[in-house]
Amino acid sequence: MNLNTDFIPFAKPSLGKEEEEAVIRVLRSGWLTTGAEVKKFESEFASYTGTANALAVNSATSGLHLALESFGIGPGDKIVTSSYTFTSTAEVIRYLGADPVFADINPETFNLSPLEVEKQLQKDPSIKGIIPVHIGGHPCDMESFLELKEKYKIMLLEDAAHSFPVKLNGKFLGCMGDAGVFSFYATKTITTGEGGMIVTNNNEAAKRMSVMRLHGIDREAWDRYTSEKPAWQYSIVDAGFKYNMPDTAASIGREQLKKAAMFLEKRKKIADFYFKELGDLDFLKLPEQQDNHAWHLFMPRIIADKLTAGRDEFIENLINLGIGISVHYIPLHIMPYYKNKYGCKPEDFPETLKAYNAVFSLPIYPDLTEEQLERIVSSVKKTGLRFRRKI
Ligand SMILES: Cc1ncc(COP(=O)(O)O)c(C=O)c1O
Repeated sequence: MNLNTDFIPFAKPSLGKEEEEAVIRVLRSGWLTTGAEVKKFESEFASYTGTANALAVNSATSGLHLALESFGIGPGDKIVTSSYTFTSTAEVIRYLGADPVFADINPETFNLSPLEVEKQLQKDPSIKGIIPVHIGGHPCDMESFLELKEKYKIMLLEDAAHSFPVKLNGKFLGCMGDAGVFSFYATKTITTGEGGMIVTNNNEAAKRMSVMRLHGIDREAWDRYTSEKPAWQYSIVDAGFKYNMPDTAASIGREQLKKAAMFLEKRKKIADFYFKELGDLDFLKLPEQQDNHAWHLFMPRIIADKLTAGRDEFIENLINLGIGISVHYIPLHIMPYYKNKYGCKPEDFPETLKAYNAVFSLPIYPDLTEEQLERIVSSVKKTGLRFRRKI
């Protein structure tokens, strides 16, 4: 934790009186675990996104795991995904004894490249599915992924952890594949502290996920305590998980959902400000400008030959100026686990590696003030000037 009171944190949730009052209402209700609030959050989320089923869970990681399990992914199966993502996307494949097959990214968007995915599908026809990730909220090329899904008859699971609530051609990101999973982690575009939501139009998969998210019990706990049937009656149909969302979290989520469109407008304005203020700097490559973007992350890249400092020193200088900076992502294929288990080499995914070596993330969240935004851009300019290579 940085104790400098002027320090601008990298991320901060936007929470108001509405969320406070909602939590107090739940605390006073006498029901803290999964109950009426979760049911309402799910039905509100399903109608917001226009999907048949929305299932609240305690994290997007749990949601991705449940979704893969419900589509029958198991030991020895292979799923193509990006190395340029958070570890959750690939670790859930391992939870099931299946193996991730990495493919390189499109360097303009940081997103999994459909062309690279198809190369993997052609090499190995036993691959069972694809998990594209809308990195930072930038929409993946879903048209191409849907074509690959049809052509190779495989599962398409969207990791939509970053991308709520953005629409592309009239459909929400996360709602185009067989299932999609949103994250409500504390730094995400809407939050419940910890939490996630699975959406799917596949009723059978939804039923399976709903049973498996709570121990493999065939009736939900809340139902058990409120329905007319004897409260003690339930059957265990499989060795399930403990992935349910508590009502306290759902009550925050319901308020955040009402504000989601307003939050998005504010993040868009910040992105516009960064484009305007930083667009002419020759030592930075800004992210691709795109209207349908959730702007969960704003990820510029340094242009190495214009600077005497590398990315790490550039970031260090910004942090010393009081700006919270992060890096998304350290590629999975250079992490010890994946390197050792699958023998990945850094150069296996050259665009992923190149992006990682140059990228950094600037703060972008609704509560940033104009004064803070001015400080951020002036600190970036100052840092560039300090390290500018003299020609
Ligand atoms: C791309 C991606 N997928 C999945 C997750 C997992 O989200 P959660 O923390 O809700 O499990 C994250 C979390 O940061 C993420 O960035």
